[in-house]
Amino acid sequence: MPASARDARFRLSPDLALTLAEQFGTPLYVLSESHLRGRIREYRAAFRAVAPGSRLVFASKANSTLAVLKIAHQEGCLIDVASEGELRAALLAGIPASDCHLHGNYKTMPELAFAFAAGVGEIVVDSFAEIEMLSELARSEAPPSAMVAKAIGLPAEEPVRCPDLVIRVAPGVDPATHQKISTGQDDTKFGFNLADGSAERALLRCLELGLPVVGFHCHVGSQLLDPEAQRAGGEAIAQLAADMLRRHGFETKVLNVGGGLGVRYTDADDPMAVEDYCRLVVEAMRAPLEGTGLDPVLMQEPGRSLVAEAGVTLYRVGVVKTVPTGEGRTRTYASVDGGLSDNPRPALYGSRYTVLRAARVDQSDEGEAGAAKFTVAGRHCETDKLFVDVDLPADLAEGDLLQVLCTGAYNSSMASNYNRFLRPATVLVREDGSLAPVQRRETYDELFAREILPAL
Ligand code: LLP
Repeated sequence: MPASARDARFRLSPDLALTLAEQFGTPLYVLSESHLRGRIREYRAAFRAVAPGSRLVFASKANSTLAVLKIAHQEGCLIDVASEGELRAALLAGIPASDCHLHGNYKTMPELAFAFAAGVGEIVVDSFAEIEMLSELARSEAPPSAMVAKAIGLPAEEPVRCPDLVIRVAPGVDPATHQKISTGQDDTKFGFNLADGSAERALLRCLELGLPVVGFHCHVGSQLLDPEAQRAGGEAIAQLAADMLRRHGFETKVLNVGGGLGVRYTDADDPMAVEDYCRLVVEAMRAPLEGTGLDPVLMQEPGRSLVAEAGVTLYRVGVVKTVPTGEGRTRTYASVDGGLSDNPRPALYGSRYTVLRAARVDQSDEGEAGAAKFTVAGRHCETDKLFVDVDLPADLAEGDLLQVLCTGAYNSSMASNYNRFLRPATVLVREDGSLAPVQRRETYDELFAREILPAL
């Protein structure tokens, strides 16, 4: 199938782009509700078709806007939270803590206590130090502290119960992706090494302490276009489950193969169809379980592949400038009213995106010019070349609107205030076409709310 045939990325019509820019200003994150719901349904159905009873977990780090969390939960997802902040976001979105799974390579004692008191459904255990902390909390009969109880609306006398525990395994798989987002290899801060026996020792320690451990987890990397790493990771944790049954009589109830399926940032990225992907990882997990009698709930935990393609970022071009680059060559910069602070991914990972003109400022001129190369730059005091050498209409003009596709994941959630820029608003395009702001633009009051200027 040609790359474009499966291109289902959300994009704005010129009319919608103009309306959004006028009503909400730019830069602006825009999310399509029907795209997001449709994609989650597609993924869940594909997973359930090959693994009835399986659960899809939304990795909320990809986008923890409350509306996104609520939609993901309404569509049947559990929620992966990687910090107390993400857990609080899920609770604020009305999601029961019992549907949340807490992750993190360094969970603090107060964070774990908060998770216990809130009643999170599952904690993904990452280190021996954490096992000891969990045991301490599980042994304490103490009700949640008044502070925690108040924060989560729980009666202070309610006793805490240890959530189900799942052991995160580093299966020694090295995926083909950017090194900053690979996590399954041996050299990683995440989880328990499989080959050196740490994962087995972690299980035994949990059992020795009487902790309610139910299974194994791995997440090998992100934006993976070749599914081999997840296949190998799934197979490795299923093999571990089979081995632990044979050696220790431990019955695995949950196996979670993490997230990682890639998305189409540009047409050079051609991710696998989700039906094929689910079949592949499920078959990999099933094979070692054959004949063991084990029938764990299979889980996946995608973030990007559920929400990235549902989002675009809308910018306004403010400056178009052509500069000499030597030997008679030139480069044309189109500077937009955002940049590094709303999308750090090009600077961090060298990520490339699809950039389109969303609407032209000069509505009188109907003709489309041919394409020319532009370097779209942000307005930060950095080289901040957001999108290098992209094709845009040659008559791109100051005031035109640009849309960058596939920015629904790891943009809003990774935004910063560098150069004291205000973080953009997010608008949800509802299924009926109406526009619902779900996060308003930051204000200067908020920007300076934490400052303390002592008498200097
Ligand atoms: N589960 C765990 C334990 C994870 O660490 C992650 C991502 C996921 C699930 C979801 O992975 P996904 O399906 O979204 O690939 N900031 C980087 C991505 C870092 C991902 C970290 N972990 C980026 O912008 O590409």
